Amino acid sequence: MSDTVDNPFFARLWTVMSTHETDAIRKLRRENLAGLSGRVLEVGAGTGTNFEFYPDTVSEVVAVEPERRLAEQAQRAAVGARVPVTVSTDTVEHFAAAGSEPFDAVVCSLVLCSIDDSDTVLRQLLSLLRPGGQLRYLEHVASDGGRGRLQRIADATVWPRLFGNCHTHRHTEQSIVGAGFEVEGARREWTMPRWVPLPVAEFAIGRAVKPSLVQ
Ligand SMILES: C[S@@+](CC[C@H](N)C(=O)[O-])C[C@H]1O[C@@H](n2cnc3c(N)ncnc32)[C@H](O)[C@@H]1O
Repeated sequence: MSDTVDNPFFARLWTVMSTHETDAIRKLRRENLAGLSGRVLEVGAGTGTNFEFYPDTVSEVVAVEPERRLAEQAQRAAVGARVPVTVSTDTVEHFAAAGSEPFDAVVCSLVLCSIDDSDTVLRQLLSLLRPGGQLRYLEHVASDGGRGRLQRIADATVWPRLFGNCHTHRHTEQSIVGAGFEVEGARREWTMPRWVPLPVAEFAIGRAVKPSLVQ
């Protein structure tokens, strides 16, 4: 189980990247959170980029962000949010192991790539939701063909070390179903032209629910 995340280089990099996002990414962030209500858990909030997009039907956001430099920025972003946001420096694994009142929704954006054992964490997230509660996700995912090969090379070399343990060739949609969620709506999106030779260009955005019969 991950106890801490301490990544000064990535924290600096993400501070710059998260404040220079394209309109396409910001639009997807807004879409990922549209229509949410009640109590929400956000996993690995980074600098708190999502906070401004929560609709005011959300009563509370509990955000976990274990990298303390990023958590400090998320705490500042929380002050300006339209909805109440609290930021904890727990890893999601620790937060889930400690137990909590059930959530109406869990939000994952650009984070399931960075967690050591995302299959286990997704099962933990299922257990933190009320029956019928939703997982909203916006994640870059494994591609086919040449880009898939590029992703495997990137993952085996410098990419995870440079980008805060990010793994580009994850079959995240399969992991979500494997954890016991039912996908209600999902699609793939390209956030840059397909000819750009970057391993993180293809995203999955979707909503998945905890089946009502699962406790
Ligand atoms: C690429 S950033 C994305 C941040 C944010 N979700 C967003 O959409 O901008 C990945 C984040 O996951 C966090 N993270 C990594 N491992 C984690 C863990 N075990 N538990 C919770 N957060 C984690 C990192 O500290 C980092 O802030």
